[in-house]
Amino acid sequence: MSEFALEVKGLTKKIGKQKKIVNAASFQVKHGEILGLLGPNGAGKTTTIRMIVGLIAKTEGKVFVNGKDVDEEGQQCKKDMGAIIENPAFYDHMSGYKNLQQYKRMAKEEIPTSRIEEVVKLVKLEHAIQDKVKTYSLGMKQRLGVAQAILHKPTLLILDEPTNGLDPQGIRELRDYLKILANQGTSTLVSSHLLSEMQLMCDRVAIMEHGKIIDISPISALNDVGESSNVTSFTVSSTDQAITLIEQGDLEIEIMKTADQSIILKTKRENIPIVNRLLVENNVDVYAIETVKTTLEDRFLQLTAVGAENKGTGGEE
Ligand SMILES: Nc1ncnc2c1ncn2[C@@H]1O[C@H](COP(=O)(O)OP(=O)(O)OP(=O)(O)O)[C@@H](O)[C@H]1O
Ligand SMILES: [Mg+2]
Repeated sequence: MSEFALEVKGLTKKIGKQKKIVNAASFQVKHGEILGLLGPNGAGKTTTIRMIVGLIAKTEGKVFVNGKDVDEEGQQCKKDMGAIIENPAFYDHMSGYKNLQQYKRMAKEEIPTSRIEEVVKLVKLEHAIQDKVKTYSLGMKQRLGVAQAILHKPTLLILDEPTNGLDPQGIRELRDYLKILANQGTSTLVSSHLLSEMQLMCDRVAIMEHGKIIDISPISALNDVGESSNVTSFTVSSTDQAITLIEQGDLEIEIMKTADQSIILKTKRENIPIVNRLLVENNVDVYAIETVKTTLEDRFLQLTAVGAENKGTGGEE
């Protein structure tokens, strides 16, 4: 077995002579993993995904599906992939079941009829599968889209913003069946601009901004505060005084934020009582010391803020 379900190397899309809307993106999806591609609107997620599935040409770079080069073994790679990009198109006047049947007939390989029942059950569409698609809600269409994408048992599933327009219940259900598929060995690449969602759905997240992958981290690393870099909030009588004292003290401390009555510091755990003593001994009252959980959102904003600062060197080269 190849090392990765999907490997993307230096993927680039140039528009015109200058503009790189995807700029040397590299990442991998491990077998059975759900990798999130997270980025704000216009980051280049859809363009990246369209190049991976072959809907648009790459300018530069390589894509390997289960170790196979899409440029050399395109047909085999297509068999290995299932994708939903933008809204899947259906025959509205036909039932969900008939749509799947139609899709099965058009598939390049033989798909047993029993597979239709199987996927319908997985996406929980049994109750409505005989109804016409025009009567479906957005969430139901989306489930039918997933059913269609996995009908030929792809080992790699690629979903572009699959939760768009879904209600919280729909999002939870999508998450549940993506996890079931992952447990059965399906690897997934899923894009989103919503951080909270990625946090619950993915094993790792690749953050994209201005066409570049600026960070890839396991969700656990993004959720954990980590021993070596505690983020701690001090509620004090005077933030100005506290900052001056902390800056004068020869400690490795990063002052992340200040609010009306509190300052947020990033420092080693052993520095917390030292800061406390420093403040109290210099007549700054301390009302509270709290650990701040850095969420993926903080991390994302931090990273994309850096990205924005470097904007000039980003998209255009
Ligand atoms: N064919 C094209 N010609 C010119 N510019 C394009 C083209 N396709 C995309 N772009 C631009 O490239 C950038 C990336 O677009 P893309 O759709 O990949 O972003 P995205 O991350 O999917 O955004 P969203 O979250 O809004 O879906 C955008 O600034 C977009 O305007
Ligand atoms: Mg998009």
